[in-house]
Amino acid sequence: MNHFHRVDGELWCEDVPLRRIAEDVGTPTYVYSAATLTRHYQVFDEAWAEADHLVCFAVKACSNIAILNLLAGLGSGFDIVSGGELRRVLAAGGDPGKVVFSGVGKTEAELEQALEAGILCFNVESEAELDQLDAVARRLGRRAPISLRVNPDVDAQTHPYISTGLRNNKFGVSHSQALRIYEHAASLEGLQILGLDCHIGSQLSDVEPMAAALRRLLDLLDQLERAGIQVHHLDLGGGLGITYDRETPPSPAAYARRLLSELGDRKVKIVLEPGRVIAGNAGVLLMKVLLTKDNDGKHFVVVDAGMNDAIRPALYGAWHGLETVGPPASTAARVDVVGPVCESGDFFARDREVPLVAAGDLVALMSAGAYGFTMSSNYNSRPRAAEVLVEGDRFHVIRDRERIEDLLRGERLPPR
Ligand code: LLP
Repeated sequence: MNHFHRVDGELWCEDVPLRRIAEDVGTPTYVYSAATLTRHYQVFDEAWAEADHLVCFAVKACSNIAILNLLAGLGSGFDIVSGGELRRVLAAGGDPGKVVFSGVGKTEAELEQALEAGILCFNVESEAELDQLDAVARRLGRRAPISLRVNPDVDAQTHPYISTGLRNNKFGVSHSQALRIYEHAASLEGLQILGLDCHIGSQLSDVEPMAAALRRLLDLLDQLERAGIQVHHLDLGGGLGITYDRETPPSPAAYARRLLSELGDRKVKIVLEPGRVIAGNAGVLLMKVLLTKDNDGKHFVVVDAGMNDAIRPALYGAWHGLETVGPPASTAARVDVVGPVCESGDFFARDREVPLVAAGDLVALMSAGAYGFTMSSNYNSRPRAAEVLVEGDRFHVIRDRERIEDLLRGERLPPR
């Protein structure tokens, strides 16, 4: 459920007409609903109520500090993958003691930064990282809390680019090597073993691959116990999918119920790293039609947002809903909705039947709250979009639209 709805035919976010935001802030603009983010967080969190658990929102999905601040206020921790994301969490007032740090390639500076901030846990993805972290921790006179990210070798049955739990993926250490690597970790003075971690992929529409991964983790947990290695938490990663079109992913409650049943009566804390399911349907990308054109009977709607603003259709062939902000026309046309970027991959919809639109009309790309702004770029020297947070009948610009000066900052001519 989300708070984008129509009032007298016009598309609103909560109690604010999207048209008003476009008039005030311009386009393209990302618009997020605070009520939707709150609801999604709470529904997800409550689904795990019967277990000792911590929800760590995956910052990569939507990283504006106003959004992180809202989630931190609801009790959320954070899953980060870079020193930059850690800085965002801290700037947002997030609790470093609720931060887990994933990622296959952390720099020494990032390890130091996270150790000094006092994060909850490093999700270590290789033996080399383990040794490097041990050395950094000992140099700083600390012990680094760690989980090993174990690759359970299950097929998440999602798009290959966002499937991460198969043996041939770059992520984690293999299940068969995990026990030995844990034993190695236990021998290192700079480390303290805290958990066991996995993440098998994103936009999962079925819980069974996740349940299979959990069985593999529990099997490993038994092996670790037999070896005298105690694990305090299981981090199940993120990945629960959302409805963009006709997908029918399990609800957060069904997802939790299934995984809790697999867990049985084991007393181990659960860490979760949801991103998309919290933010995806809590945001839209508001844009304007620049013009329409016909090439030999092929109809194009050219909008003022491009693949640099929202890359999912271009990168994954992802489907996003498109809605007119004004009342939809009663006649429809089969069109490609494309951006101004000089790439044929710069499209939001291809060969799709949409209500007729004309130059100047406002359109919203739906379900754009996750992996939307965070994946945007300056390709074609296009300033990145503004971001707006709606709270009831008020809205706040939480990121200014970039200016060309921002793009040129840091560039210079060599001395002659
Ligand atoms: N934890 C880890 C270690 C992850 O790698 C990810 C996502 C998450 C949690 C959050 O997953 P979620 O709950 O959002 O599915 N750009 C792609 C998605 C990439 C996901 C990368 N990892 C997309 O737009 O579909």
